[in-house]
Amino acid sequence: MKQYKIAILAGDGIGPEITAEAVKVLKVIEERNDVSFELLPASFGACAYFESGSAFPHQTKAICDEADAILKGPIGLNHEDSKRIPIDEQPERGALLPLRRRYNTYANFRPVSLPKSLAHFSPLKPEVIGEGIDLIIVRELVGGLYFGEKEMGVNDAGLRYVRETLEYDEAQIYQIMQQAFKLADKRRKLLHNIHKSNVLKSSVLWNEVMEEVAKEYPDVQVVNMLVDAAATALCLKPTQFDVMVMENMFGDILSDQGGGILGSLGLMPSACIGPDKAYYEPSHGSAPDIAGKNIANPYSMIGSVAMMLENSFDMAAEAKNVWAAMQGVFADGYSTADLSKPGSGVTMISTVEFGDKVVEKLRQMPRV
Ligand code: IPM
Ligand code: MG
Repeated sequence: MKQYKIAILAGDGIGPEITAEAVKVLKVIEERNDVSFELLPASFGACAYFESGSAFPHQTKAICDEADAILKGPIGLNHEDSKRIPIDEQPERGALLPLRRRYNTYANFRPVSLPKSLAHFSPLKPEVIGEGIDLIIVRELVGGLYFGEKEMGVNDAGLRYVRETLEYDEAQIYQIMQQAFKLADKRRKLLHNIHKSNVLKSSVLWNEVMEEVAKEYPDVQVVNMLVDAAATALCLKPTQFDVMVMENMFGDILSDQGGGILGSLGLMPSACIGPDKAYYEPSHGSAPDIAGKNIANPYSMIGSVAMMLENSFDMAAEAKNVWAAMQGVFADGYSTADLSKPGSGVTMISTVEFGDKVVEKLRQMPRV
């Protein structure tokens, strides 16, 4: 029997609720396969800060170091509550970026996927969605502005100022391009390279390295697109995209737009892959306004489990079953509050009910 250790960082806000549903799914995977998961819960985010004074405590680091993979819920507080935590310990800066840096999880995969049958979830017209949206954003996750040096102060003129730096070297660009081209090569052999080289020199180097890597993948067609134009194209014709590669901040912004064109950020799972360790998390925040109400959508968290099964545990067939189970629940006419628009004919169910229905579907699927 295969045995894996999974660090479970439930996080803040809706994190614990949606993590509980993902854990239910992991238990069913154990029942159905010759595999056992040792779950190692650890505190991470604002909750950890209030418990121990650190958003990413030593003990959590030790658990993550030991784990074969990490399942992480969303973290963070609302704008006002964040101010109760010193800037450098606020969970985004104090926990999430350090987690990414610690395991050098430079490759972030964010699928934006909506089968034609679920077109009614999207704010886009059915004719725009056509046969369905199925693209994946490959976001560089440990470089650029988010990781550059930062400085705040008062300048010689007595004005408050801030300086943040955007830095990439060719090795960082090379490794994310390799991931993107490999993925494009396995899929539709189409790669959209998203950049802003008409303004940013970082994009000039980005594109140079991209062209070098492209020579290794002669079958992959590259389309270069400015990031602002890509934002429009995602709304007007999302089906033109298959794999899109971009630097850290562009990926942060466009992946949230991905959630928007699907109809909910709750449909956005992700995988963050480094050379030795990977962690899996929803792309969205902790939605403190709806926390504790049993109305959050656990799809992104359960989808992150599916990505973990495929990438970390070599269980691609079972991962497909998890996706199919979730689609099955939608196909039966159910969905959580975020996707249950009035008049859509959808029956609204709770976070727990969604998890239960996914589990029920999964149990009915032939074992692999
Ligand atoms: C994301 C999030 C994070 C990011 C925040 C919470 C720091 O928005 O994963 O997209 O900006 O990377
Ligand atoms: Mg984001």
